[in-house]
Amino acid sequence: MLDVDRLLGELTLPEKAALTSGSSFWYTTPVQRLGIPRVMVSDGPHGLRAQPGEGDHVGLGGSVPATCFPTASAIASAWNPDLLRRIGQALAQEARAINLSVILGPGINMKRSPLCGRNFEYFSEDPFLAGELAVGIVDGIQSRGVGTSVKHYAANNQETDRLRVDVRADERTLREIYLPAFERVVKATQPWTVMCAYNKVNGTSCSENTWLLTTVLREEWGYSGLVVSDWGAVYHRVAALLAGLDLEMPPALGRSPQAVVAAVEAGKVPAEVLDARVRTVLELVAKGMPVLELDESFDADEHHALAREAAGESIVLLRNDGVLPLAADARIAVVGEFARTPRFQGTGSSQVNPTRVDALLDELRAVHGEVPFAAGYGIGSTADDSALRAEAERVAGAADTVVMVIGLPAADESEGFDRTHLDLPANQLSALRAVAAVNPDVVVVLVNGSTVVLGDVTPHARALVEAWLGGQAAGGAIADVLTGAVNPSGRLAETVPHRLEDNSSYLNFPGDPQVVRYGEGVFIGYRGYDKCHQDVAFPFGYGLSYTSFELSGLRVATRGSVAGGDLGATVTVTVTNTGALDGAEVVQVYVQDVQSSVARPVRELKGFAKVSVPAGGSRQVTIELDQRAFAFWSTRHHDWVVEAGDFTIAVGPHSRDLPLTETVTVEAPSLAAPLDRDSTLQEWMNDPLGRQLVESEVKNGQPAAVLDDELVDVIGTMPMSTLANFTGMSLDHDALDRITDAWREQTHAR
Ligand code: GLC
Repeated sequence: MLDVDRLLGELTLPEKAALTSGSSFWYTTPVQRLGIPRVMVSDGPHGLRAQPGEGDHVGLGGSVPATCFPTASAIASAWNPDLLRRIGQALAQEARAINLSVILGPGINMKRSPLCGRNFEYFSEDPFLAGELAVGIVDGIQSRGVGTSVKHYAANNQETDRLRVDVRADERTLREIYLPAFERVVKATQPWTVMCAYNKVNGTSCSENTWLLTTVLREEWGYSGLVVSDWGAVYHRVAALLAGLDLEMPPALGRSPQAVVAAVEAGKVPAEVLDARVRTVLELVAKGMPVLELDESFDADEHHALAREAAGESIVLLRNDGVLPLAADARIAVVGEFARTPRFQGTGSSQVNPTRVDALLDELRAVHGEVPFAAGYGIGSTADDSALRAEAERVAGAADTVVMVIGLPAADESEGFDRTHLDLPANQLSALRAVAAVNPDVVVVLVNGSTVVLGDVTPHARALVEAWLGGQAAGGAIADVLTGAVNPSGRLAETVPHRLEDNSSYLNFPGDPQVVRYGEGVFIGYRGYDKCHQDVAFPFGYGLSYTSFELSGLRVATRGSVAGGDLGATVTVTVTNTGALDGAEVVQVYVQDVQSSVARPVRELKGFAKVSVPAGGSRQVTIELDQRAFAFWSTRHHDWVVEAGDFTIAVGPHSRDLPLTETVTVEAPSLAAPLDRDSTLQEWMNDPLGRQLVESEVKNGQPAAVLDDELVDVIGTMPMSTLANFTGMSLDHDALDRITDAWREQTHAR
């Protein structure tokens, strides 16, 4: 261990400054003189990408073999925090085996647009789901004495110009959409590190954004860990140090430590600020030290089996007319290069050197014997697709059922750039049409990191299986689902729209040069589609099973109060498996504020539970809602508030199938702004006392005239101070002073 207090007293200023930068691409800085070792950090969210030695100059070269688990968009579709916890424990074991102290993940940014090149690396368009899943994996990793880095804080929702782009989002949008997943995981797990993003937020780079790094993260959420920069995200080291950034990675050697020393000596950085940053670095090193002494290994087969289980649970069955599961004696053919050359992970800093990779073609042949295969299309534009298509038609025509695998090539979605459309490659779609023309019994399997439009796919698919980027064991997992060895239980963690243009961010993505306006506000993903009554191809939370379920017996028991800060509700429902196969259902709870003073989403996910139910059996599910489930962020109060009124608690299998609802009426202190001279006439008339005071003045001024509703409709939006200038209204400035004083006296008297 390290005696941090003693070390802070013994470290020289240059040594302290050096500690606030890394010593190389993947290591913190050692101070041999005082027995402070360096610790290693390394990617990535779904498998280790640890480079041997110091790493290469951009840290993207070869890495040691590791298990490649399903990427975030895949594993999020399992809606299972406990599964993520188990994956976290496995990742930690692999980190311990190479003496790695901190794993740089998970990525929990919101999927504002389906075009973001890194969406494969993020969980969802919904902050509640992303937060719950992040808690699972961070808890799992840290439970084995290895650290994490929750990233990228904050609002890093595009790859376009990601180091310079300025995200312009109002406070409520940030608080309700882009911060909650970070807030949830920070408060629940105290991740060893939080990684700040490259981009700006409202004019200030995240790495020097005091509001994000200190006010919100530390002072409001109570974060006590370390803030590390994204690699290269520190643009002004001293400003970043003052804002709350503890560790710059990789180091700007020869510049940053010297700048820190100079700033302290010039009195621009108080010594205690530097000490606070150094203390955080030393505490991280202390936590990371035990791993350095380990001599452990991991069971690659066991982790591969977990990767296969996880990928199977992540698969979303979007359509099935009964063709699935395949009969054991089905005469099938397989078409699609991705069945032979698996597409199982994303490109960039999360890319893993897998211990092994399963191909769907091999896995199906292991069950069905010799299965004819045709590539059907080339990956990239090099292949002669017409010949490949002809071969696919021949193979498909001779089979009973065709399993066709299509998806996004690695060149279509990646860290570092965004997509410009949601289409699958044209050569793959033409191959699908050709195959379906000779054999209508087609099962389509999708392998893609982020959603694609399916209008040209669904008509040709008797069954449609979304396998995402399922990791090194995806081939086996897909075979498990197609053959029925696994009953699919995945649910969409991101909406599949009919068209890109239907997405609420469309007009503002990726924005203008170096600036992007989050004009859709809180209405991202299903919040946007639902608010606009937009039809979608497959809604958020959707997924089929080989069995069927029925929900019944909804009970909602509220407790506590808004005034007491402990409003809550216990939601209970019974899930019955009405089919012939064991399966798992994801019960989803959405909350709707029926009447609100601000524009709120039609419904928001505020609770879920995945439950396994045997064929013919029933299980009772209980889901707890806290006060936050009813709240919105008030930009006037700068806090979470709940308005009195009715709330609908809606429960069902997905966001657009919520058969069970119950309305609860919530009492809450008034949130109305105090009435004053600048309040509008309508605001005065909406308040019982205000109306009484206004009408008393009007009656005093004009025996018969009373403000009738029609008149108020017309002039109601005018501030009283303006109306007082109008003669003949009898609400002159003296009258306004009288009623303002009276209102204040009587309400303060309450
Ligand atoms: C990258 C990524 C980040 C990663 C880091 C180290 O640019 O944005 O997610 O952890 O660099 O590779």
